Amino acid sequence: MKYHENVLDLIGRTPLVKMNRMVDANMATILMKMEQLNPGGSVKDRMAIHMIRGAEQKGLIKPGATLVESTSGNTGLGLAMAASVFGYRCVFTIPDKMSKEKIDMLKAFGAEVVVTRTDLQHDHPESYVEIAKRIARETPNAFYTDQYYNMDNPEAHYLTTGPEIWEDTDGKIDCLVGGIGTGGTISGAGKFLKEKAAEAGRDLKIICPDPKGSIYYDLFNGREPSDPSIYTVEGIGHDFMVGTLDFSVIDDVRPVSDRDSFITARRLAREEGIFVGGSTGTAVFGALQVARELGSGKVVVVILADAGDRYISKCFDDEWMKDMGFLGLEDRLGTVRELLQFKGGHVVFASPDETLAEVAKRMSELGISQMPVEQIDGHAYKMIHEVDILHSLISGSCTYEDKVACAATDLQGQVGLDAPLSTVQNIFDGNNIAVVIDDGKIVGVISKLDVVEFLAARS
Ligand SMILES: Cc1ncc(COP(=O)(O)O)c(C=O)c1O
Repeated sequence: MKYHENVLDLIGRTPLVKMNRMVDANMATILMKMEQLNPGGSVKDRMAIHMIRGAEQKGLIKPGATLVESTSGNTGLGLAMAASVFGYRCVFTIPDKMSKEKIDMLKAFGAEVVVTRTDLQHDHPESYVEIAKRIARETPNAFYTDQYYNMDNPEAHYLTTGPEIWEDTDGKIDCLVGGIGTGGTISGAGKFLKEKAAEAGRDLKIICPDPKGSIYYDLFNGREPSDPSIYTVEGIGHDFMVGTLDFSVIDDVRPVSDRDSFITARRLAREEGIFVGGSTGTAVFGALQVARELGSGKVVVVILADAGDRYISKCFDDEWMKDMGFLGLEDRLGTVRELLQFKGGHVVFASPDETLAEVAKRMSELGISQMPVEQIDGHAYKMIHEVDILHSLISGSCTYEDKVACAATDLQGQVGLDAPLSTVQNIFDGNNIAVVIDDGKIVGVISKLDVVEFLAARS
């Protein structure tokens, strides 16, 4: 019979999945480490079970003990899942900024949950960390797992996450990208990968996108942290330095806004079919930047930290996004790149050698009323519109046998690939079509009907 002894055997050995629609050919390959596929739904399952086993081996917990932790939710879920299997009791403190889904899931595993205020300094007696420590002190047979200083946390990733990534990339990884909560994931996996890369004589970078308002960016750059401000992304960033974070393995920390994090998480669901949380949006936003910088031929691995089901009432709720000011008109409409990916197909060009007759014939066969003309020796693009052909024939300025150049006009209505679709709306005020330019090349032509069909499908 083929079966696992219990659900905890399913932790780890998560796959790498290639990103397709959110990247282009000029970018490095992005491989996504699917940590949301762990049975508890996040990367934290690995360190949760490792902290419990470590405490058991050190004789710090006995059967029937109470595990206490201050958590943004996922460590709690990993601990609660393991506690259900091993018969431990759980008490968690969690700041009220965290999603209702996470709090309900913790209770579903049978844990006791104490919701605390988010807007308190970490050393305030009513902060989630201090309350947890107090509960652990005042509860008989209790153990505070203390994820922010427990070195079993990064060790779990040194022993599992790092080796899996090295093995599954055949050692060809050029950059690991991941967020920093306790720093356990990136410090443990990063340390292992840096060691392997050094052995193999390869250069490997560790880059950490971090929420704007977290102190890690300043600390990493050796600056006195400016006053931490509350940000909305959950699970990463912090307002105090922790023991489990090893800056020596990290090459860069990059601030990312809540809006970019949430918009990216929503795009992952809509363009890659991957349902993950806001902190993964932060990481992937950074990974897309890095992949553009490194260029094609390089390999970037990004950690997908947790599943999206715990944020239905948050970044996947349009009303919440609008209320929070993260979803403006332009976001609701999407981007030019999304429309072109939806539309598919390729741009039909007219050749400079074609006559007006030949172009007109192709236009009617294809049911289109304009075409960009292929560049001649790098000269600027031109456009040939059926209306200009008509005018030139009626005015006699051209004949049917003349080359397209006779009636071609300068390019109008140009728009970038990553521009919000709302930009195209303005172009349509004066033009029938918008011409999409990327890297100086025409990569798409958008008509009003294309936008209508895209928005209809999107809604
Ligand atoms: C959603 C989410 N993303 C990322 C992380 C970061 O993981 P680590 O604590 O290993 O830095 C956490 C940690 O709690 C998390 O909950």
